[in-house]
Amino acid sequence: MRRPIIGGNWKMNKGLPFEAADMLKKLIPLVKNINNVDIVITPPYTALIPVIELTKNTNIMIGAQNMYFEEKGAFTGEISPIFLKELGCSYVILGHSERRNILKETDEIVNKKLKKALNFNLNPIVCIGEHLNERETNKTKEFIEKQFRLSFKDLSDEELRKTVIAYEPIWAIGTGRTATPEQAEEIHIFIRELITKVYNSKTAKAVRIQYGGSIKPSNAKDIFKKENIDGGLVGGASLQAESFSAIIEAANNSSF
Ligand code: 13P
Repeated sequence: MRRPIIGGNWKMNKGLPFEAADMLKKLIPLVKNINNVDIVITPPYTALIPVIELTKNTNIMIGAQNMYFEEKGAFTGEISPIFLKELGCSYVILGHSERRNILKETDEIVNKKLKKALNFNLNPIVCIGEHLNERETNKTKEFIEKQFRLSFKDLSDEELRKTVIAYEPIWAIGTGRTATPEQAEEIHIFIRELITKVYNSKTAKAVRIQYGGSIKPSNAKDIFKKENIDGGLVGGASLQAESFSAIIEAANNSSF
């Protein structure tokens, strides 16, 4: 049985310590009785310290939205996995489509970051997902397979099991246009088949695959009901305590 995981990806929002703290003070009591879901929040780097402090001894874990694949040195503007680990982060998002598309991160870079995160015992959440163009020209599976093979290249069986995969179709991110539960489930099944092909069926059954893209309280329940969807990575709706906690609640109920 895979434990659902809900990520709140704040993106470039709530980066000031006081606004991050405001949100968490509302969220913590709302989710304190959630026992069946891993809850992870990824604020901007500038809010990591107060957020980690505030969530100590709660059921909320903290992660970063990105990191660099080197440990230290002349890499202006980059963040080392050592900093994240030492501050108390337990997760890190890698290869988000906004980084791939806007900041031109390649599968090769994502692969290097992934291996480094695993070396430092940071749990990676690696995002993959097709553009509207692939979806409309029936090339989604081909595209996902390529991203999977390159981004996860040379990972051991054990390493892959520690990695969370986030399937985030780019056309559904921040657009209000959600993939239907059936569309998402189809790709989650396809990713498990790929893992079976490259690794084995035991690993395919063990790896957690989240869906991301316009998850809201109104559609969360139907998405999380699907057998192969192990929770979600939430952008916009994770910025308000009420909507985010309702989504976490839906995942909690789907795990029975
Ligand atoms: P939205 O929930 O705002 O569509 O964002 C999804 C996402 O990109 C999470 O990483």
